[in-house]
Amino acid sequence: VDPKREKLFALYSDATVLYHHILVNTDTGEAALAYATQRNLNTTLLDTFQIGFAPQQRDLLITFFKEKQTDFQLLRQSGLFIENDDGTLRDRFVGRLMFPIRDEQGRVIAFSGRILQVAENQPKYLNSPETDLFNKRDVLFNFDLAKSEIRKAKRVILFEGFMDVIAAFQAGVKNGVASMGTSLTNEQLYHLRRATDQLVVCYDGDAPGMKATNRVIELLKDDQRFNLSIVTLPEQLDPDEYVKKYGSEQFQNEVTNSLETAPAFRLHFLKQNRNLDNEQDKIAYINDALQELVLVPSAVERDVYLNQLSEELHVSYTALVQQLQQLLKKTT
Ligand code: UTP
Ligand code: MN
Ligand code: MN
Ligand code: MN
Ligand code: MN
Repeated sequence: VDPKREKLFALYSDATVLYHHILVNTDTGEAALAYATQRNLNTTLLDTFQIGFAPQQRDLLITFFKEKQTDFQLLRQSGLFIENDDGTLRDRFVGRLMFPIRDEQGRVIAFSGRILQVAENQPKYLNSPETDLFNKRDVLFNFDLAKSEIRKAKRVILFEGFMDVIAAFQAGVKNGVASMGTSLTNEQLYHLRRATDQLVVCYDGDAPGMKATNRVIELLKDDQRFNLSIVTLPEQLDPDEYVKKYGSEQFQNEVTNSLETAPAFRLHFLKQNRNLDNEQDKIAYINDALQELVLVPSAVERDVYLNQLSEELHVSYTALVQQLQQLLKKTT
């Protein structure tokens, strides 16, 4: 064991306990607790995810660790503090609901703090900087708790945010993880692959969420490791909002029975914002759709989508096949 690593783990653990205590047991945490409650974070969830609160006070954590006589270099390396001009330290996280980020063994290695009231000049979520223990590209939020559930369900569900993972968990969908506010990485895929080869993407139903879904499809193109499916939530909702609006049962139903293949998602995506009663739009869509189907390696699968397109757009199946054949010839 590396003693410095062990000391950092202990430091994050102490910080987690302190922030959690402030949220659930103190007057200082009252407003944050009201916010958490309003977001359906009940006591069990606050405990399970060890959610806490960093109050509006720049010296809370630093004073706590100074009193414990924690090594100054260790504090500097923890990422939990910002260095003042005179070399002293102040707390990095203030006035934020604190989500501990755990590694695969369940040890806290970083934090993400959500501001209680979104303001223009401050990020909604503030993350720990990268440290010796925290490599964003490597970490999946909740992977430690989800791993056994992923194996049981034989699939993992990838969400955009922490709140989505937690809302899904509360709704009984416990095989969910989230990447750390960045695009999905190959490192994260490598970790996931050890637990399952079935990857379900359930990002936010808004435009950025769909864009991010496209990026996952792009990343997994030609990747034989995973079978990818996609859930698109209606009304631009994110999973947390969906659960709040439609309840747990309907959410469970969405993530088990509303799965689309990647090409089906792509066809839906390309259809967006197009008026199929307009001939120009319709032809443009057909061209884009066929261009998409060129990328589908299986002839049978291609045929399924061609049939759908033919029916939906009232275009002859033969014409679609002909044009697709031409496109296929061009690319090979
Ligand atoms: P969203 O904007 O969808 O946030 O960003 P959210 O998860 O729905 O959060 P709530 O419900 O408003 O609390 C998705 C994810 O992108 C990252 C976070 O990981 C967030 O969960 N993010 C977002 C940041 O890292 N920083 C930000 O300022 C915003
Ligand atoms: Mn508790
Ligand atoms: Mn989003
Ligand atoms: Mn969201
Ligand atoms: Mn949200």
